Amino acid sequence: MSRVVVLKGGRSLERSVSLRSGARVEDALLRLGHIVVPIDVSTDLMPRLRDAGADVAFVAMHGRDGEDGTVQELLEIAGIPYTGSGPAACARATDKVMAKYLMQEAGIPTPPFFAFNETAFRELGAADALPAIAERLEFPIVVKPSSQGSALGIKFARNPADVPAALVAAFSYDSKVLLERHVAGRDLAVSILDGEALPIVEAVPRDDAFYDFEARYEIGRTDFVCPADLPPEVTARTHELALATYELLGCRGFARVDLMLGPDAEPTVLEANPIPGLTDTSLLPQAAEAAGISFDALVARMLELALEPAT
Ligand SMILES: Nc1ncnc2c1ncn2[C@@H]1O[C@H](COP(=O)(O)OP(=O)(O)O)[C@@H](O)[C@H]1O
Ligand SMILES: [Mg+2]
Repeated sequence: MSRVVVLKGGRSLERSVSLRSGARVEDALLRLGHIVVPIDVSTDLMPRLRDAGADVAFVAMHGRDGEDGTVQELLEIAGIPYTGSGPAACARATDKVMAKYLMQEAGIPTPPFFAFNETAFRELGAADALPAIAERLEFPIVVKPSSQGSALGIKFARNPADVPAALVAAFSYDSKVLLERHVAGRDLAVSILDGEALPIVEAVPRDDAFYDFEARYEIGRTDFVCPADLPPEVTARTHELALATYELLGCRGFARVDLMLGPDAEPTVLEANPIPGLTDTSLLPQAAEAAGISFDALVARMLELALEPAT
């Protein structure tokens, strides 16, 4: 039995998802016989961590602070072991542009892209480069903020006229954005637990919501299929790329890697999430379930991994 602080909430745009992940984790920890100290992360985090006298922290935060390495850095300073990846892996994974540069260098396929800071447009006239970018990427182009999750700020630009508004939307979330080649294909997610790839989850839009991105993620308009119905060699390749990405970024314990399966049946990596959602509709728990790992067993394993000495 351990005394576990559950860190959740925070100021991120994914606060509400984090509160749901946190609550579900707390229930599991209680069933597992642990003492649970929930903390909705705020400016008093350090004194609350000190007062909690915890053996270990379960980080159930998504997006800014919790997933980008900030909270992990503070936990390192506080000397409290914690679930999931360390500050460096979190920082690399949360920054999609950084992660994609690393993937390109390592030979992991990821859709071609161009990345810009706001200053490139304001001070360097990057807007003049847009026609050349469009020519190389071809429409539709996916425009996304470098560091957000849950599809926030992502727009599909169908033609040149769509690009400025898509950029404005993306810049409202982050000072760095990327323009990425659109992959018309199947949406796959590989969850990884302790260096093992779990069954693949495919997100299947129910109606033709190809461009209507928000609708795809509305409850009831997307079906999740696990394990995804794929030829064995595609499953193997998808697992291989997800694990290579996990290793490349230096993840620990668990993560979820999102990919697209192109029309050529070649998977290509979009991004890695160091702290994927743990709600009752989230993909990592679904993948674990499909592998015969109950939610409680999943939480128990995550906690165990946090307490293992670093290798
Ligand atoms: N280049 C792309 N081609 C096709 N679809 C994409 C592309 N990039 C993102 N998407 C769609 O948007 C979703 C979210 O994108 P992702 O890069 O995983 O960001 P996040 O999940 O952090 O919001 C993907 O699961 C996919 O459905
Ligand atoms: Mg994603």
